[in-house]
Amino acid sequence: MLTLAPSRPLRGTIAVPGDKSISHRAVMFGALADGVTEITGFLSGADCLSTVSCFRRLGVSVDFDGPSSRVIVHGRGLRGLTPDPEYIKDGAVRLDTGNSGTTTRILCGILAPQHFDTVLGGDDSVNSRPMKRVMTPLAGMGASITSLSGNGCAPLLIRGAGESGLHAFSYRSPVASAQVKSAILCAGLYADGPVSVTEPSLSRDHTERMLRAFGADVRSSILPGGEGALAEIRPCSRLTGRPVRVPGDISSAAYYIAAASIVPDSEVLLTGVGINPTRAGMLEAARAMGADIEIVRMYDDAEPAADLLVRHAPLHGTVIEGAMIPTLIDELPVLAVMAACAEGRTVIRDAAELKVKETDRIRTVTENLLAMGADVTPTDDGMIIEGKADLQGALIHTCGDHRIAMSFAVASLVADGQTVLDDHACASVSYPSFYKDLAGLAK
Ligand code: S3P
Repeated sequence: MLTLAPSRPLRGTIAVPGDKSISHRAVMFGALADGVTEITGFLSGADCLSTVSCFRRLGVSVDFDGPSSRVIVHGRGLRGLTPDPEYIKDGAVRLDTGNSGTTTRILCGILAPQHFDTVLGGDDSVNSRPMKRVMTPLAGMGASITSLSGNGCAPLLIRGAGESGLHAFSYRSPVASAQVKSAILCAGLYADGPVSVTEPSLSRDHTERMLRAFGADVRSSILPGGEGALAEIRPCSRLTGRPVRVPGDISSAAYYIAAASIVPDSEVLLTGVGINPTRAGMLEAARAMGADIEIVRMYDDAEPAADLLVRHAPLHGTVIEGAMIPTLIDELPVLAVMAACAEGRTVIRDAAELKVKETDRIRTVTENLLAMGADVTPTDDGMIIEGKADLQGALIHTCGDHRIAMSFAVASLVADGQTVLDDHACASVSYPSFYKDLAGLAK
């Protein structure tokens, strides 16, 4: 439990922790590569540590360089994963993915072609999230994955395809999901021909960028006529380990962008934030609401990054919809908090995916905003928020969802009276030092 009170202006400079999506992938592809992968800026949040622990159980050695965010992955090669006998039960290695949906789904694609069997599962939240979205396309490639509880959720029994292998395949995904796309592309490394995924709009492309940098033949394109986006991979004999520099996580930066925007007299410099266009929709949506975000320096790398200067600004409502949604899906809870503090109406639509995140975020965002006195109506695929609310301190039920906890910590900064987060520790999934860092800016 954590009690929070209205804040003084936020002022200062902060380097947010490394990007969660990129940190996961650096460990995964480093493990499958030949040679060593040195990761700098790695996010040591619980989710990425779940990925590390899964690969350690598969015989991969991962060294942490002291308390720093430098991590060395000793790759085993595409065919080199070897389960630790200590974790084999009834012929299958047991892997625990904790709260991490990304680990669970992408691992399905990595484990399906192996020559051993796996039982893959996580905590109650992960074990209630839909897995058919990866099971169906992987089955189309010849994979054998069954939901042990028969409800399409983890725990999953993955029978390694081994010598019989996976096959060439083209899949049209009904959802724009980087986890689905990544699972299919990873399985495609091992297939007997090209594998492609078409998604209704482009989801984050970290997998494509990083696999390419590790030597895989991955092509991507935006299809004409609004037909979505295509990613294609050719089978690969080896990946080559390499240095990976992880930029700051824009999903973590989003809390400060929102906080500095809504707390009067704030001015915060966020350094080294990843601004990959498939992730940076939050900047566009916040600016459409009137946020004052200045790019003061750009860093050109495999993943582009920037220093962002954010100053308090009066906000107004906007519409957040369509192809923009996958580029800001994880930032919608904190954008909803900004919308409650903005003049006029904000409409969020085309975001039904919010229902299958760590919690049903249409429900958890609207219930908690209502508890704080905001005018918000949930819809089937988003919500409608009428501003500007005079937020009141309230008891916030985070439901163990890190993004709900951090979004409502931001709301508390402008609420009248005290706000209590019933479970605040869940922030450690993606941002272990969040509350300390936030308080540090208000001194
Ligand atoms: C992620 C993709 C997104 C996002 C999640 C991380 C990733 O999920 O919400 O937090 O790292 O690939 P979907 O792919 O299901 O949209």
